[in-house]
Amino acid sequence: MNGTIGPVIRIENMSKVYRMGEVTVTALKDVSLELYPDQVTIILGPSGCGKTTLLNQIGGIDTPTSGRLWVDGHQVQSLNQRQLTRYRQKNIGFIFQFFNLIPNLTARENIEFVLEYIMDISGREAHRRSQELLTKVGLGERGDHYPYQLSGGEQQRVSIARALSKEPKILLADEPTGELDYTTGKMILSLLTSFACDGRAVLIVTHNKELAKIGNRVLYLKDGRVVREVKDQVPTPVERLEW
Ligand SMILES: Nc1ncnc2c1ncn2[C@@H]1O[C@H](COP(=O)(O)OP(=O)(O)OP(=O)(O)O)[C@@H](O)[C@H]1O
Ligand SMILES: [Mg+2]
Repeated sequence: MNGTIGPVIRIENMSKVYRMGEVTVTALKDVSLELYPDQVTIILGPSGCGKTTLLNQIGGIDTPTSGRLWVDGHQVQSLNQRQLTRYRQKNIGFIFQFFNLIPNLTARENIEFVLEYIMDISGREAHRRSQELLTKVGLGERGDHYPYQLSGGEQQRVSIARALSKEPKILLADEPTGELDYTTGKMILSLLTSFACDGRAVLIVTHNKELAKIGNRVLYLKDGRVVREVKDQVPTPVERLEW
């Protein structure tokens, strides 16, 4: 493993082409990026520019058409499927754009499931941690509710608590405040940015320019390409954002 000096994720010339019958969509074109420990990276771009596609390639949910991906210094192509799945489960936290909660588990059980079955944490401790995280995202009283009993923004916060629960080395957040009001959104962004320490990297995808200010680096994505990259940005504290 690479320690905390180099990037935890490196992508080189990644492209993704979707073919459906006669129609070809180039969702990503020659994208290169690096995610560093203790940093917040922002991917900024309009709807349809390839943001979710990019996260899906990084998170191992989808396979790129071409290009190379390193996680923790290991080229992904050199890992077998089992090693890759294990790495992904243990080290990558994914906050999905559309939450992806398990509908027949309560909010708390959605989190406990990850802790018990992926992180091998005992039931009692998993219960304690789930409750703690639900409280952190402002849902301490709603643990026994099923996803259909929660609003979109509440489901989004459960999904965030679930991703944070395993304290992943790499946190991928797809429009994490898309369903949230201003105050709750700021609370969640503070939580996400504070997570980028102790060697952990945070990647936040957004179409909102103001949010891009909270990152240490920003990649501007347009039509599947990185059109601009800002490195070494001085992050604006979340409480000073205006959006
Ligand atoms: N599985 C798929 N099959 C075919 N086309 C796809 C698929 N997934 C995404 N696309 C296309 O790839 C392009 C990029 O989509 P993507 O979902 O990555 O955009 P996005 O930047 O996340 O947009 P939004 O801000 O609306 O969430 C779009 O044109 C989309 O229609
Ligand atoms: Mg998207």
